[in-house]
Amino acid sequence: MIPNHVAIIMDGNGRWAENRGRPRIFGHIHGSARVRPIVRECGKLGVKYLTLYAFSAENWGRPSDEIQTLMRLLCKYLAREEKTLMKENVRLNSIGDIEKLPSVAKKLLQEVILKTSHNTGLCLTFALSYGSQQEILRAVKKIAQDIKEGKTTSENINVNNFKNYLYTLDMPDPDLIIRTSGEMRLSNFLLWQAAYSEIFVTSKNWPEFSIADLHLAFEDYSKRQRRFGLLESSVQ
Ligand code: FPP
Repeated sequence: MIPNHVAIIMDGNGRWAENRGRPRIFGHIHGSARVRPIVRECGKLGVKYLTLYAFSAENWGRPSDEIQTLMRLLCKYLAREEKTLMKENVRLNSIGDIEKLPSVAKKLLQEVILKTSHNTGLCLTFALSYGSQQEILRAVKKIAQDIKEGKTTSENINVNNFKNYLYTLDMPDPDLIIRTSGEMRLSNFLLWQAAYSEIFVTSKNWPEFSIADLHLAFEDYSKRQRRFGLLESSVQ
């Protein structure tokens, strides 16, 4: 059973490097190299949505050289992978406050998003400058504005249409969230959307997360019984 939407918290780059006596950015370089094979394998296996937590809203608080490296790696990925994304029919998307990204990164991101917008295969979403609490707060403010302008009423807002105010409005909720490096937390990632997501935590750090590890996560997922708060007999 292949999950329709897989979301990954790519954690442990820094620890992976530190365990090797290398600077943290060494881990980010190796971590970014894992993105291509995982994207390709997800596409091959028939995953429809893959969301990668690439840079959190809180990551802006890291030392500036680390932020610069992460932005440089993002730009490198976008410049290098555009052709491959086209060839593999992948559509790129982003969630988060991309206005905060350096202008080069933002421009490149928007170009690749536009270029790949007609692709019909895997939808690859980078969560960039993304924080789920910030996303929920932004949604609440948009709703308040819509109410003020008479476009909706508070009675009209419900669990189903609240989603229309989130960055993820045109995506299904994640079926499986994978977190590397063994930490058992969501770290402000897709908190609303994860209401009924299955969670798989591996002790592997992101730079060493292999295709076999991805298969293991999917195997584990296929054994889960998803009930969405219902009784087994009423789940489709
Ligand atoms: C967590 O490791 C990882 C990040 C903060 C960034 C994830 C980014 C990449 C994998 C590279 C970006 C590349 C592309 C192509 C989007 P950590 O630094 O928090 O590790 P630690 O918990 O061991 O310190």
